[in-house]
Amino acid sequence: MAKKIILDSDPGHDDAVAMLLALGNENIDLLGVTTIGGNQTLHKVTHNALAVLEEAGIHTVPVSAGCEGPLVRELETAPGVHGDTGLDGVDLPTPTQAVTGKHAVDFIIDTIMDNEPGTITLVPTGPLTNIAMAVRKEPQIVSRVKEVVLMGGGVHVGNWSAVAEFNIKVDPEAAHVVFNAPWPVTMIPLDLTHQALCTPERQRNIESIGTPLSHFVSQLMDYFRKSYAENQGFVDPPVHDPCTVAYLIDPSIMTIKKAPIDIETKGDLTVGMTVADLRAPAPADCHTQYADHLDVDRFWQLVHDAIENIGEGLEK
Ligand code: BDR
Ligand code: CA
Repeated sequence: MAKKIILDSDPGHDDAVAMLLALGNENIDLLGVTTIGGNQTLHKVTHNALAVLEEAGIHTVPVSAGCEGPLVRELETAPGVHGDTGLDGVDLPTPTQAVTGKHAVDFIIDTIMDNEPGTITLVPTGPLTNIAMAVRKEPQIVSRVKEVVLMGGGVHVGNWSAVAEFNIKVDPEAAHVVFNAPWPVTMIPLDLTHQALCTPERQRNIESIGTPLSHFVSQLMDYFRKSYAENQGFVDPPVHDPCTVAYLIDPSIMTIKKAPIDIETKGDLTVGMTVADLRAPAPADCHTQYADHLDVDRFWQLVHDAIENIGEGLEK
């Protein structure tokens, strides 16, 4: 049976690819997209989520806007990586679908409470503010959720500071809530996503599908390549966020390690660091784990196939 997920995201070039992977794979049932201020302002990323659905020709997935910014701190966006719109490099279609009118936090809570316990997976690919707010507003969701599979953090590497990753560093207090709630958390960190590089050959492979959507994704990758080269010193861009969805489709494409993971919220140099305790085998009741090795070819095949499926007029 397809896995029911809510994608909580801040699109974002790689968030857009995560959406398409979820939309185009039969093993995923995307119940809704919720948005969070992150890569760009809430208004912009919500527009982007609707525009990506429009580009995909899919009008059956609800989009709910969430929190404008972090629990405690000022929002820091990432125009250097994603541009002024959050999805620079493409002409976005005008969305015909509107947002639900329900706040993302309520959409998350209501969906979890209205479904059988153990059936809903949360997939955050932006700062964790909405998820933390949902935990605080309705703590029962913690025992009802199947698992949380998030893109964020780094075990041995950072990108927004020497030791912190963007999604966690933007709202470390929210991340602290999410990692300390006793639900199963799988962290898909930079250590893994830096293997998901969109080489020119992989991009050509997507482009060769020959649909408007495949061209759209290729244009997104052109921009992402340029911004990652200019800002982060990468030759090919790491396409972080769809790794979460790929893990849910086929966990065997990654290796997973259990370890206690907590969030640094105070350090002058280390705020937003995901601190994994690797000193000993994880205790039996450890509820956090992280992915550290990716079968890159199989990952890109999943992305390719999803884009091809949507191009064939798949309506979900
Ligand atoms: C994360 O930060 C964002 O810019 C990307 O969308 C991804 O979720 C990578 O650090
Ligand atoms: Ca993101």
